[in-house]
Amino acid sequence: MNELRKFAVIGNPIKHSLSPRLHALLAQQTGLAVEYTRQCVAPDNFRDYVTQFFATGGCGLNITLPFKGEAYALAASHVSDRARAAGSANTLWQENGQIHGCNTDGLGLVNDMLRQQITLAQSRILVVGAGGATRGVVPALLQAGCAQLHIVNRTEDKAHALAAQATAFSPSHARVSASGFSSLQGTWDIVINATASSLSGETLPLPGRLFRADSVAYDMLYTPSGDTPFLQQARNASVRHTSDGLGMLVYQGAESFRIWNQIQPDPAPVLAALRTELSESV
Ligand code: ATR
Repeated sequence: MNELRKFAVIGNPIKHSLSPRLHALLAQQTGLAVEYTRQCVAPDNFRDYVTQFFATGGCGLNITLPFKGEAYALAASHVSDRARAAGSANTLWQENGQIHGCNTDGLGLVNDMLRQQITLAQSRILVVGAGGATRGVVPALLQAGCAQLHIVNRTEDKAHALAAQATAFSPSHARVSASGFSSLQGTWDIVINATASSLSGETLPLPGRLFRADSVAYDMLYTPSGDTPFLQQARNASVRHTSDGLGMLVYQGAESFRIWNQIQPDPAPVLAALRTELSESV
């Protein structure tokens, strides 16, 4: 019997989330009966909402801004190594009456980069931004075997604090460093935008010499056109390989789906379908 399984993504705001459509496509591919809704939750109602959701038979939750830290705290002693390294959770489920948490954002980014044949092992990676988005992906980038990871942020102290935290989880061969924009130096194999700058259409104060033509520029945000101000900036500096974050969204969702349903979906055709739908939505 294919019993209906209930899921939701919760955040605030949430109305533009593509996750319900993504999970409908994953369910269609695997033949599961899934109801996946989006829920806007008031900041002081997060814990009650989650508790009630699982008490009434909900199977799994995705968590987005601004609740990933609270989700981690709620899952407390039942968090995966990935969630612990990131200090945040984007995936919750219940086992034996206990809420469990994982963070699939980092794996989502790394798997999307592998799909694009981006070499992470021994690479020099620059991550721009030092907020929750960066915290979620840095451990996975280090695990993937990069040689150096540098965090640059407008508020320099936040970059240093994150780099110090990351060092605790860093494999011994990886060098983790941090700075503000003004002292940023060198060229990088991979430059990842994990700031909110593309949302507001702002251009980051990145020197063009950061990029080489064979650098990869990856924006964790996605847009209907697949283009963002950061990716334009990279192309203006002759970068050939640019990517928005739609693949990351799909691969993190596929990993949540696998955790909840013990079924491994094939994300590639789902990404292709979502890309087509998104580009036709404008
Ligand atoms: P999130 O959890 O999505 O990462 P956040 O914690 O508010 O959100 O962090 C947003 C990140 O984008 C921060 O690194 C922020 O820089 P500050 O720490 O200096 O605030 C960065 N950011 C947002 N808009 C930016 C802009 N226009 N230029 C540079 N950095 C920007």
